[in-house]
Amino acid sequence: MALNLDAVGEKLGPLTKSYTWKDAVLYALGVGAGSDDLHYCYEKGLKVIPSFSIATIFDILAQIGLKANVNLAGVLHGEQELIFHNPIPIEGEMTTEGRITHIYDKGEGKGALVIGESDTYHANGKKLFTSVCTVFGRLDGGFGGDNAPKRELDFPVREPDAVVEAHPADNQPLLYRLSGDLFHLHVDPEFAKMAGFEKPIMHGLCTHGYACRALCDTLIPGAPEKARRMACRFSKPLYPGVPIKTLIWKEEEGRALWRVVNAQTGDTVIDHGVFEYGELPAHRIRFDGRVAIVTGAGAGLGRAYALELARRGARVVVNDLGGARDGSGAGSSTPADQVVAEIRALGGEAVASYDSVATPEGGERIVQTALDAFGKLDILINNAGILRDKSFARMEPENWHAVLDVHLNGAYHVSRPAFTAMRENRYGRILMTTSAAGLYGNFGQTNYSAAKMGLVGLMNAMKLEGEKYNIKVNTIAPLAASRLTEDILPPDLFAKMKPEYAVPMALFLCSEQCPVTGNIYNAGMGFYNRAAILTGPGVVPVKAGRIPTIESVRDAMDALASLEAGKAYGQLAEQLVDTMECLKGGG
Ligand code: NAI
Repeated sequence: MALNLDAVGEKLGPLTKSYTWKDAVLYALGVGAGSDDLHYCYEKGLKVIPSFSIATIFDILAQIGLKANVNLAGVLHGEQELIFHNPIPIEGEMTTEGRITHIYDKGEGKGALVIGESDTYHANGKKLFTSVCTVFGRLDGGFGGDNAPKRELDFPVREPDAVVEAHPADNQPLLYRLSGDLFHLHVDPEFAKMAGFEKPIMHGLCTHGYACRALCDTLIPGAPEKARRMACRFSKPLYPGVPIKTLIWKEEEGRALWRVVNAQTGDTVIDHGVFEYGELPAHRIRFDGRVAIVTGAGAGLGRAYALELARRGARVVVNDLGGARDGSGAGSSTPADQVVAEIRALGGEAVASYDSVATPEGGERIVQTALDAFGKLDILINNAGILRDKSFARMEPENWHAVLDVHLNGAYHVSRPAFTAMRENRYGRILMTTSAAGLYGNFGQTNYSAAKMGLVGLMNAMKLEGEKYNIKVNTIAPLAASRLTEDILPPDLFAKMKPEYAVPMALFLCSEQCPVTGNIYNAGMGFYNRAAILTGPGVVPVKAGRIPTIESVRDAMDALASLEAGKAYGQLAEQLVDTMECLKGGG
């Protein structure tokens, strides 16, 4: 039977599972914990090994294979990523839901990959973890589908910073399977032979549990609740009773790379390991599981946004046309490709898009790139920009339109399909990029100022349409050293205005925790303030109901200038209500 390609988008779960401290201890014993690890094995002061999470969702993992109809004789766990949002309590009830997000074809004889993503919540309301599981169907390749995007990790060439040795017992799988993974391959000799092995093999996730213990003990001793993310690829089977080593390279604060090797042969059995640890997520803003598009991300501010989004766990579409500063030229794939390479070198995930935001088709394709590569879209930063400065009298239509097409129309072209995709998921964060030139005016930039202020109008209406879908739309007015400002800013200032200073403001507005919609913030050099359209208290120059004279307006001009207690209205109707109120008085 062939793979069920229609399974993409199919729901996984809901799966509800109650567990007690004994389940956590059984798991710990299954992954080799013993009397040296009493904190995992004794109910007094018990801590839960973070990878126990996977033991509670085996049924979800099984559903991925079953729903996609993966040939059981060739099924293996390909990759596993766990993102830990909150520590796992020692008992309770967990509910898990997710969906199949991708099916990839590695080619005839090379197998297929089925990816399922799920979120698990505790009955106490807290989100505990997200799982991204890749099931490898060894016998299912060659159906003519796309291959998965390549993800490489550069392991340091130096010796590992830590090596943790362990010796799983001959009967380790028999103990481990009691935590829920009852698949015959790990217990039944005949089934194992049929699947091409000389005897039952270790569960990849059992070895993964050994690695998780080794990583916690080495990097966050006594505080497994500080594990934030654990990702890996299962690369070779391992027979029970064979000693293993977990090799750990500390990369930067809060992040390590790791692999597990067979200590007898030196073969790598788990590869591409990433382990992140540190502060509780409640204190750190992360974008794990989020998919973001940044337009114009090949340089300047866009590049800085894309890198930080990826560092904090988002999967990013790096869009850049690669044209000249004024938008001329055929474009180039180099800027986008370079930023994608930078993100991958950090261990992040990104794909490039070279389409122009200046056409509706380009906008559609940019959004489709996110949907094709990552299955959804959560964040859009409309950032692409060009300049064609000229005094107004010399501003020919060509230069007017070129600038409006990239900034204002460009944001429309990308935001529209993005909004549709976000609406389906009932979640979205859209950021417009305005400029002080638009908000306050700048000589010689009529085209740019008009476009930039147009974006504020676009935000004002979109924020209302997005409200019921949890789509928040805000605007940033950045100030940063870049190709656009190199001939405008004095050189000493230029050096102090790294784009990185604007990034925190922009990315907070793109985060789940962002509490506002429809707001504008200036951001540059680490200084942020809100900008708004304020409406003054107003004047009714003649008796209410009478038509004022032009002279009455002249006489009221000083009073009209007042912005005292000015209001920033949330929408047209609020202003209308105030207008009607005013008419009651006056005179
Ligand atoms: P930048 O020139 O370094 O980056 C803009 C990027 O947009 C470039 O890589 C360019 O290739 C790309 N791009 C241009 N047209 C495109 C199109 N049609 N489709 C896709 N990509 C395209 O400039 P910077 O300073 O990083 O600008 C980013 C945004 O911030 C722009 O919208 C700009 O107007 C705005 N801004 C920047 C300020 C600053 O101080 N740097 C001040 C106020 C606003």
